[in-house]
Amino acid sequence: MQKYLTPPGPGPQLGDPLPPSRASAQTLELMRLRRSTPADCLTEPGPDAPTLASILTIAARAPDHRRVTPFRFIIFEGDARARFGDVLREAFIAREPDADEKKIAFEQRRFLRAPVVVAVISKVDRDHRTPEWEQILTAGAVCQNMLIAASAEGFAAQWITEWYAYDTRVLAALGLDKSERIAGYIYMGSAKADPKERARPVMEQIVTRF
Ligand SMILES: Cc1cc2nc3c(=O)[nH]c(=O)nc-3n(C[C@H](O)[C@H](O)[C@H](O)COP(=O)(O)O)c2cc1C
Repeated sequence: MQKYLTPPGPGPQLGDPLPPSRASAQTLELMRLRRSTPADCLTEPGPDAPTLASILTIAARAPDHRRVTPFRFIIFEGDARARFGDVLREAFIAREPDADEKKIAFEQRRFLRAPVVVAVISKVDRDHRTPEWEQILTAGAVCQNMLIAASAEGFAAQWITEWYAYDTRVLAALGLDKSERIAGYIYMGSAKADPKERARPVMEQIVTRF
């Protein structure tokens, strides 16, 4: 089934005039109703290659002070998810040498929960005059853009970190250098069941006027 909604093409070119805003009731509706789907509740199909390329291109359009591009992506699909499972297995055994095989096998299979997982790497340039904090915020915005783009393409998704976003063995196996951290693993696929709304902030508690 072709789920490709975004027209293929290079997108806007450098210097092209773009509208300052684009009223979209559909976007508002999508963002009002968007929910994460737990990775356990994801299944096939996931985005195909052009759809995933579009999702990542949209994610990469996040605000970025002074165009540092303080992020990069690693895609896991097909067999790569099982190969990464071998990394998870070894790293988990090193962390918990007494764990039983059932628990180890569970950890090994984490990426097999979804057809596509994208690791969003936060990549801070400490010598850049854009503060580190702002570069990290950009990576977070990239993750959120990705969730929204995935949803708009018709896919369910979840932003996850779990232990393997922080495990030094896993980070080394992924080839991260000292300036890099995992902002999140974005799991994408189709929902096995509709999620329900969860508690949301009480707006009166978080909004004030100066
Ligand atoms: C940085 C970050 C890391 C997260 N890590 C996890 C995680 O490891 N496991 C998990 O169940 N949810 C995690 N979440 C929460 C889910 O992604 C999600 O926010 C939550 O399930 C509700 O999402 P919704 O408001 O989009 O429906 C994380 C969220 C963020 C922002």
